[in-house]
Amino acid sequence: MDHPLLEHKITMLRDAKTGSKEFRELIQEISMLMAYEALRDLPLEECEVTTPITTTKAKRLAGRKLAIVPILRAGLGMVDGVLALVPPAKVGHIGLYRDHETLEPHEYYCKLPDDIQNRQVILLDPMLATGGSAVAAVNFIKQRGCTNIKCMHIIAAPEGLERLHQAHPDVSLFIGCVDEKLNQNGYIVPGLGDAGDRIFGTK
Ligand code: PRP
Ligand code: URA
Repeated sequence: MDHPLLEHKITMLRDAKTGSKEFRELIQEISMLMAYEALRDLPLEECEVTTPITTTKAKRLAGRKLAIVPILRAGLGMVDGVLALVPPAKVGHIGLYRDHETLEPHEYYCKLPDDIQNRQVILLDPMLATGGSAVAAVNFIKQRGCTNIKCMHIIAAPEGLERLHQAHPDVSLFIGCVDEKLNQNGYIVPGLGDAGDRIFGTK
């Protein structure tokens, strides 16, 4: 994505001196800006509205059903920013953590709305590194019959983008910034460090 506000806020997010409170606020603001773009294709319907002056034809959202699904933990930081734009959206949760040795994702929680197959899903995770977590999360959502999925990541490595696109070419990707590479520990370079630890202050 390409917007000066987004670039400025991502720079502040990267800064090692940014503390947890500001980090959380920035993640929320960036998520709202990204959702504004990701929701550009929401369908509208004609309606009538009576202003203080007259009655006129206008448009309103056609009630498309949305679900947002954060990948725990770091995806939680993005939820409020998206919900600020679409308060009626349902929220599912997928719990995954990366094994530090193998970098493979391990599932520990999955709770999705019952009618997820009828909803447009926006998967949220600030970091797309090897892509293992996002691929596994999209697999869970597809297993429940959902075919309309978008992924929102604030920072992505080229390796993760390639893996996610190969595994799920039908999924639309909304990426704040594509970084240079992964390091030998599977961290994005230059990246912002461990997103979950920075949001929740666990390191
Ligand atoms: C981070 C991040 C992603 C994942 C990305 O979570 O929030 O979910 O790593 O890496 P991948 O693309 O290589 O799978 P982590 O596993 O550190 O768990 P946490 O959010 O609980 O800290
Ligand atoms: N997860 C993170 O939080 N940061 C990275 O750079 C890679 C995976």
